[in-house]
Amino acid sequence: MKVTEMDYNIMEFQDKVKENMTAKRYFHTLGVQYICAALAMNYQYDIKKAEIAGLFHDYAKCYDDNMMILKCKEFHIDITEIESKSPYLLHTKLGAYYARERFGIQDREILDAITYHTTGRPNMSMLEKIVFTADYIEPSRRMIPKLDEIRKVSFQNIDLAVYMILENTLNYLKKNKDKLIDPMTENAYEYYKKLQDSEY
Ligand SMILES: [Fe+2]
Ligand SMILES: [Fe+2]
Repeated sequence: MKVTEMDYNIMEFQDKVKENMTAKRYFHTLGVQYICAALAMNYQYDIKKAEIAGLFHDYAKCYDDNMMILKCKEFHIDITEIESKSPYLLHTKLGAYYARERFGIQDREILDAITYHTTGRPNMSMLEKIVFTADYIEPSRRMIPKLDEIRKVSFQNIDLAVYMILENTLNYLKKNKDKLIDPMTENAYEYYKKLQDSEY
């Protein structure tokens, strides 16, 4: 069943999501949900789908590293080398799994948007770009370099916003030597860099 055909109630989903996280994370989640809706309006995308993807994007972030690995093994979710070293990355795949198994969300675009919201990937769908961007710019995000500019650009040229976010993220990861870089993020950066170069 597609989510647009599904008789869902977004307020019920909100209550369920709220049960699975701290007040602070829920506040962030609502910010992401609303910014997903705003970006969807701006880019003529399905608003409800965008809201649901935003609402569930961090659903599985409540587990510590060990539990994250255990849960993924239990549900036969494959774990890449980088994910085994930085298990928090798995909250994306695990979140998509729960959205499908616990809440009956089968829409591929929503599940992919949850799956790729942290690393990004080359050639993202509109919904993937919306969730990836909303996660970075939602109102409760603490100030990061260029955030004001990225917020503005997000509503003007989402590919450029994605590129700027990936660039910021890679700079941050490179500065913090204990942080590992997922090759998917580098691939995404190269893709969106080329896209920008080809547009000028
Ligand atoms: Fe996340
Ligand atoms: Fe998030």
